[in-house]
This record gives sequence, C-alpha cells and structure tokens, in this order.
Amino acid sequence: MCGIVAYVGHREACPLVIKGLKRLEYRGYDSAGVALNNGEELVVYKKKGKVSALEQELANKPLQATIGMGHTRWATHGEPNDVNAHPHYSFHRKLAIIHNGIIENYAAIKETLLRKGHTFASQTDTEVLGQFIEDIWENAGGTLEEAVRAALQEVAGAYAIVVMNAADPTQLVAARKGSPLVIGVGEGEYFFASDASPIIEYTKDVIYLNDYEVANVQNGKLSIVTLDNTKTIPYIQKVEMELAAIEKGGFEHFMLKEIFEQPRSIADSMRGRVNADEGTLQLGGLRDYMDKLAKSKRIIIVGCGTSWHAGLVAEYIFEELARIPVEVEYASEFRYRNPIIKEGDIVIAISQSGETADTLAAIELAKSKGATIFGVCNVVGSSIARATHAGAYTHAGPEIGVASTKAFTAQVTVLTMMALAAAQRKGAISDTLFRQLLAELETIPAKVERVLQSAEKIREIAYIFTYARNFIYLGRGLNFPVALEGALKLKEISYIHAEGYPAAEMKHGPIALIDEDMPVVVVATQDSSYEKVVSNIQEVKARKGRVIAVVTEGDTHLPTMVDFTIEIPKVHDMLMPLISVIPMQLLAYDIAVMRGRNVDQPRNLAKSVTVE
Ligand code: F6R
Repeated sequence: MCGIVAYVGHREACPLVIKGLKRLEYRGYDSAGVALNNGEELVVYKKKGKVSALEQELANKPLQATIGMGHTRWATHGEPNDVNAHPHYSFHRKLAIIHNGIIENYAAIKETLLRKGHTFASQTDTEVLGQFIEDIWENAGGTLEEAVRAALQEVAGAYAIVVMNAADPTQLVAARKGSPLVIGVGEGEYFFASDASPIIEYTKDVIYLNDYEVANVQNGKLSIVTLDNTKTIPYIQKVEMELAAIEKGGFEHFMLKEIFEQPRSIADSMRGRVNADEGTLQLGGLRDYMDKLAKSKRIIIVGCGTSWHAGLVAEYIFEELARIPVEVEYASEFRYRNPIIKEGDIVIAISQSGETADTLAAIELAKSKGATIFGVCNVVGSSIARATHAGAYTHAGPEIGVASTKAFTAQVTVLTMMALAAAQRKGAISDTLFRQLLAELETIPAKVERVLQSAEKIREIAYIFTYARNFIYLGRGLNFPVALEGALKLKEISYIHAEGYPAAEMKHGPIALIDEDMPVVVVATQDSSYEKVVSNIQEVKARKGRVIAVVTEGDTHLPTMVDFTIEIPKVHDMLMPLISVIPMQLLAYDIAVMRGRNVDQPRNLAKSVTVE
C-alpha cells in the first residue's frame, strides 16, 4: 500500500528510483512521483497513473542527480491526481517528503498550520506532515533529523517516510512506525525502500528499520536513533531474495508465473521440515513452543482476505487432527471487539506480506491480553513476523501479483504441518495416519503439477464464460474455503460479481439466483461429502444452472450430470484444498485476461494493506 524508494550515493538516482518504483508498483499504482536534488535545487515531478506515465513525463527533463526518491501511490486522502501524488514539497520548499501510511491526526495539525498562514496544494495527510516538519525546523532551529523526530512525536497513525533536504544533496532522513522500511547498505551508497526488491540488484546487506526509529544519511554516513534520540546499533543482515524471483521469467503476468510456481513453492515450504521416509516433521521456529501449542485449550486464527481463507482450511485440519478447538476471525473485526482471551489460548496470525495493518493490530491486542502469538508469514523480517512470539515462514518466495495464489497454498501447507506436529505432540493422531499424511504431503507438488497440465482445458471453459455477469462457487467441508477463495480470485481480478457458499447453504437463499445465466463452480471431489455435493449439484441443474465441477480423476458419474468438468488427482481429504484451489486460480486468471483486465494490478487494490 504505497511503495517508497530513495537513494543517495554515486549512481544516477533517477533511473534507479524509477526501476525501484516499478518493482514496488504492486503496492499501489494510481499515481507516482520522484524528487531529485542536483545540488542546486530540489525538483519534484509527479503524474497520475502508473510509473510508466511518470517515465514518459520525465523524458527530456534534466534529471542529473545522485540523490533521489520516489513514490507509487494507493490513495487514502484525496483522489488520485497529479497534485495528490507524492513527493510533496514543504511550504517553503526546504524539504520534500514521501510517505506510506496514514497520519490520523493530520486534520488537527493542518488546522494549526492554516492558522499560521500556511496553504496546501494537495488534500493529503503527507503534505501536512511535510509542512509540520519544516515548521518545527524553522522555529526550533537544529537539524532536519531533530525536526523529523519532534514532528513524529506529535503524530498519531502509521508511517514510513523519507525526507529530502533541499539545502543538502547528501542527506535523507527516514523513519517508520507501522509501515515497512528497509535500508540497503552499499559501498558509499544507501537505499531506502518499502521492501528489499528495489535494493537486491545493488546490495544484499539490509537493515530493517524498527518502529519509532529514525535513520539519517548525511555525507555518506548512516546513523539510527529512536524518536527520543537514543542511539541504536544497526543490525545489518543478508537478504536472500534473488533477482529472478521478482521478474516474470517469460510468463505474461506475475500471477500466472506464481500459479505455475506452486509445485516449487509448496515443496520449499516443506523443505527441511517434512521427512516422510523417517516419519519426522520439524518446525524449527516453533520448536520451543510446540508443547504450548499441543496443550492449548483453543486456537484463534486471525488474517484477512486470502489469508483468512487459509485460516478456515486450518480450522478443519487442527480440529480434525489435533482436536484443538479453533476460531477463525477477520483481523479487522477481532481488533475492534473485546475478545475473550484465556490462559492457554494461542493466536495464529496469517499474512503473506507480514504488513497488513488489521492483522498487526489484532496481534497487538491479543498480546496485550496475554496470548501467545504465532506467525505464518511469507516475508522474512516483516512487521508481523517480528511482532509474534514464534512462527513458521511459508517460503513461497516473493508474491508480486496482487491476487494471492502461491501464498495461499504455502500457508495451507505450513498450517497443515503445524496441525500435524501439534497432533503428534499431543498424541491425538495415530502413527500410521501421521506417516500417511507426511507421505501424501510430499506428493502434493507433483499433483499440483498434474492439475497445471489442465490449464488449456480451463482456458477453454473460461472462454465460454468470459462475459458472465455473476458466478456462484460451492464447496463443502475443506472445500468450502476453497469456494470462497475461488470467488474472491474471480471478483478481484475480473470485476465479475462472485459469491462463495457452503454447498448446502444454497437452498437457504442463493438458489433463488440460479437460472440458465448463472455459472456455478462446484468443488465436488470424492471425499466424505461427495454424495451430498452431488445432491446439491442436482438442485442447481434442476433450475437450469450451468455447472463447472472440479472432480476427482476417474469420476465417471459427475461428467454425465454437469456441463464441464476439471479433473484433479485424488489426495487425502485433509490435503484436498492444496489441489482443488488450483483450477479456481486458473479460471479466474483466464477470465480476467479474456476480459482485458490488468491482472497483476487490479483496480482499487494494493498488495499489502498497511492502512485500516
Ligand atoms: C486476495 C489478497 C488479499 C490478501 C489480504 C491479506 O487475493 O491478496 O485478500 O490476502 O489483503 O494480505 P496478507 O496476507 O499480506 O496479510
């Protein structure tokens, strides 16, 4: 949700910043801008639309500078236009600022500045913060870094900011609270970015700035202090991300690449953890907490969107295998209730980005009530990963397509391993079943590969339904969350209205919608609820609904009843979502492409939702 990138060193800053913005564009893409300081003046260029529109705008402009910063925006305050785009100058143009987050008390600060005679070009909270910093700087004297700290002490909300000094072309001041900020440390050069992707081409040495820390680069030196001016020793770590992981690798879209990566990403999530031959399962990050998990009276899972769906899958698996009661909550609701948390409760927070504001707030609330928190995150070193007591990373690799795909299957894989480990520690699962599930888990990557071979057939089905106006998705048991996930994928990238339901719920209302124009996607694999789902399909067919069924390979019955079938391999019921979700992802992808949608960057969305 907004991407920020900044550079100071010896390279040409503008192309580096633009390239970085393109890597971060998945975070927001309604407008973009850059600020450069060529030693004589601080110039700002910004443009509504994608980074490519900004790039065109910059053609033929004098852009020589070795210090620069840029921003790609997902609008919060003020419509997406040139003026509201970042960077923002301060009132007397002594600085420029870029910001990711929300300044909650910006209206009160703005009021004070207006009374002092300030005027504002934009409607953004960011411009207010920039003017506020400058105002303190002018009135209190001292350094820019001091003014930034003083201003931030008055600010409520979330931010990652970078401030550029017009009078000093060697200086950048950055700070964070609640929004991510990574510092890349090169040879005589520094990089700042919302994630490591714009940085790794130049250096693998990074510092993850902590909340309430302020970083100051000046004359080639970096210092980090807390808001109250306590010096901190920067912890430089090696980032493992490879450049190839953030490029499309010959695929038309990141989403398609990520769908096809799933055999590998699922295998990576199990690597070094599952050993079916020896019948062992190890989750290093949870080793010291496994007893606590096994003995827990209740697990509360929090997450948003696709991560919440992974939580719903986990609910079935934990309850079935480990016999621990599970509640799955939208983080956004949980944080504003007064949830009852008892001793022995475990909270599992699921998040691909590790930055989702609602999930982070839910963690803080649960922590304040004494819960033990585990994280299931994809981004190493992310805010959520760091806010939890322990956890297991998903190792899916960077997910760049805004619609989540490989993160979901990696989350389900990790949550399944957690449930199995807890069940074993608790003695709730037989050795035979434990070993059987480990062995089946190891077959999942190859089975996903087999489903991917149906891509052509799924494309043909997508072609037939490209212009449908509504879709219903049905599933039962573990396939119910898969139906929800299928509907979410379709609506977010194709903008077709789609709803997911437990198949049996249909007769309590949604069946009224069924007619010959209504495509119904049913996950009807041969599991314990197969017969019931077949009955539900009959109810749809009786009302002339058009059924696309995801069926188990070798099912000869359903193909005679429904309009289209997509076959998937047989796996244990507990592992079915890892396989049955793949056709959902491909169907949504193909329909969106056929409708000419921007699949990787659907309208109004952003990859990591760092605002409420
Ligand atoms: C859907 C999607 C979103 C995210 C949600 C949570 O395709 O990507 O629904 O799943 O915003 O994001 P994370 O997992 O980063 O917390």
